[in-house]
Amino acid sequence: MDRLRVTTASAHATTEEIPFNAAIMSRTLPKDCFAAQVQYWGSLHAALEEAIGRQESGPVAQVWALTGPRAGLLEADLKFLGTPRDCPEAEAVVTDFTAWMNDLAESDPLALLGVLYVFEGSQLGGTILKKPLAEMYDLSDGEGLSYYNVHGPAIRQHWQAFRAGMNDVVTDPADEERLVDSANKTFEMVGRLLTGLSRDLPVSAA
Ligand code: HEM
Repeated sequence: MDRLRVTTASAHATTEEIPFNAAIMSRTLPKDCFAAQVQYWGSLHAALEEAIGRQESGPVAQVWALTGPRAGLLEADLKFLGTPRDCPEAEAVVTDFTAWMNDLAESDPLALLGVLYVFEGSQLGGTILKKPLAEMYDLSDGEGLSYYNVHGPAIRQHWQAFRAGMNDVVTDPADEERLVDSANKTFEMVGRLLTGLSRDLPVSAA
């Protein structure tokens, strides 16, 4: 996990700088744009859950037991956000990303843990984003922010348990390398998704 953090630090910094995130922090993100992100993020979680669900035992199933499904939470949150705006650019990323995860499920299931690392780790950044989101759209846990509150105050403990579980099952340096590659590719895809959603944002967010 230390290796993943170091080798994806630059990709994380690039992702964090995308205007979409600044628009949340400055409370200027149009609601239908956030709704679109929740919708697309839900589709990606559903695809990951499907791909991981095909691994009935082994290291991927072992780590998965420490996290759990999120697509249902995002679907429930979406109901509080109204109609999402269409973003064909982001939708195309969801299509590519889903196809890639399906391929990995067959060709290199262990690499799915690199995707899961990025998705699970994004909850840490979510702790910063959820306050402006709650204020901007009048949301709370159970009313639009269930996904962001999935771990509640125990988020650090969950992250430590996830880190320990990953470190237990991935020990071969060659396997680690495959996770580093899939985590970086995941950041790249997420970056493309958020960049697509950042088109046409109010100038103050850019
Ligand atoms: C404004 C946007 C974001 C902010 C402010 C942010 C902030 C943070 C913070 C504070 C941490 C915790 C570092 C620590 O204490 O260990 C973190 C970790 C992480 N974030 Fe973000 N983040 C953002 C966006 C994202 C996005 C969009 C993703 C991916 C979808 C992401 C993926 C991760 C991952 C994988 C980690 C774990 C790093 C590790 O291995 O320790 N973050 N982020």
